[in-house]
Amino acid sequence: MSRKPIIALDFPTRSEAEIFLKQFKNEHLYVKVGMELFYQEGVSFIKWLKEQGHDIFLDIKCHDIPNTVYRAMKVIAGLDVDMVNVHAAGGREMMKAALKGLEEGTPSGKNRPVLIGVTQLTSTSEEQMQQEQLISGSLKESVLHYATLTYESGLDGVVCSALEASEIVDVTSEHFLRVTPGIRMLGDKVHDQKRVVTPGKARSIGSTMIVIGRSITQAEDPLSAYQKAKKEWELE
Ligand code: C5P
Repeated sequence: MSRKPIIALDFPTRSEAEIFLKQFKNEHLYVKVGMELFYQEGVSFIKWLKEQGHDIFLDIKCHDIPNTVYRAMKVIAGLDVDMVNVHAAGGREMMKAALKGLEEGTPSGKNRPVLIGVTQLTSTSEEQMQQEQLISGSLKESVLHYATLTYESGLDGVVCSALEASEIVDVTSEHFLRVTPGIRMLGDKVHDQKRVVTPGKARSIGSTMIVIGRSITQAEDPLSAYQKAKKEWELE
């Protein structure tokens, strides 16, 4: 599996995403397409990205009854994306259904897309979790609990903060992927992220894949920002 930094294509339209990608010339990237761009531009944009040779993380965070998620994942497997995610809060049965859908929907000769779980959203505070979700205990305990549930359901990994990565290994396995956003190069603007680390630090504290958005998409020179992040990520 490709372990290059994943660039979050957080653009509202395909034309803006294409203008951005033109700067990378013939470089084969790993890009993350989220709900905004996918709902706007749909399957044809995914196909176009694949034709350009890019790997794709489809970040649509499915969460529904097991049968619906199973059927959705069967369709998604046919899109030839490389990674997709579901909310661990959907439960063991839903996560297993997601995996089954991907396995059954993957065309022969292709690899099943990697399936990862979302634990607690980073926008959820401990107080909010306790009051709104009625989960007692700490946010960290809930993240580790969901990571364990995701692992036991047979998924390939979780989305988490790099700062949680080593504790997730402790409750799962070294082979369980830790896909981490919240990455910034030294001196970059932090924006709305609360806890950020550099690509090198992420590697050294246990991330297996990193997701970088604005540090690249809003850089003066996105190609050199990407190359710098990639070099730091690969060297450490
Ligand atoms: O611009 P920035 O590097 O902060 O973008 C990070 C990307 O990762 C965004 O697309 C954001 O939605 C996503 N993400 C995140 N934190 C999570 C899950 C996803 O920042 N816990």
